[in-house]
Amino acid sequence: MKGIILAGGTGTRLFPLTKIVNKHMLPVGKYPMIHYAVQKLRQAGITDILLVTSKQSAGLYADYFGGGTEWGVDISYKIQESAGGIAQALAQAETFVPPGEKLAVLLGDNLFADSLAGAARRFAAQPEGAMVMLKPVDDPRRYGVPVLEGGRIARIVEKPADPPTNYCVTGIYFYDSAVFDIIRTQRPSERGELEITDVNNAYAAAGTLTHELLTGWWTDAGTFDSLREATEYALRGELE
Ligand code: DAU
Repeated sequence: MKGIILAGGTGTRLFPLTKIVNKHMLPVGKYPMIHYAVQKLRQAGITDILLVTSKQSAGLYADYFGGGTEWGVDISYKIQESAGGIAQALAQAETFVPPGEKLAVLLGDNLFADSLAGAARRFAAQPEGAMVMLKPVDDPRRYGVPVLEGGRIARIVEKPADPPTNYCVTGIYFYDSAVFDIIRTQRPSERGELEITDVNNAYAAAGTLTHELLTGWWTDAGTFDSLREATEYALRGELE
């Protein structure tokens, strides 16, 4: 299974910190944020990793990881020229993933306690489709939220004003290689982005979207509050 880490975007909610450095290079404990996504993949045995970044700070990623040897992984890099959405960032990985091979995708600002080893193993055994990881949250309106019917995800609503459940679809995704064909059929949303939720909804409509629950803490580190929360976990040693 290939690993893809998406670290493009503009980080507007962390402005002005992100005026000078890309969000995923900000410190969380003693490492830059992006370090933890690489570690999570490596700990799950996924060592062939593509890092998709914006142009901002691109050189810093190479300074930090190099080819990945020091961190026990093999890292390649791709630039997403403009922040056209998470699905557009993922599309950059098409030439990296051989047809028929599966992929684990992490959003670079998602920090969490769970190991991905079990989920990766179970998804490897899933004949086709996609799998997402859910987590109950206090304010689901900030996230993609699943509509659950009969224990399955019927569809996902992105940032709903009136959330159907208190679950968040976290930025931890597993896909078969058909995901690239699906992205090609997508159109930009009202905010002008290719949405990962639309991609996941295509799998849900085909009946091939499964899900699991994270049992440990999870946060995205995209706001000042959540960045502080993530830093506190890291300083307590709960992130390594
Ligand atoms: O964190 C989980 C949430 O992430 C999900 O619940 C939502 O369904 C999903 O849309 C996403 O929501 P956000 O509003 O938090 O996404 P954001 O624009 O903050 O981007 C999250 C990460 O995705 C960011 O750290 C880097 C990557 N990204 C994002 C964009 C827009 C890219 O690589 N390229 C992009 O163009």
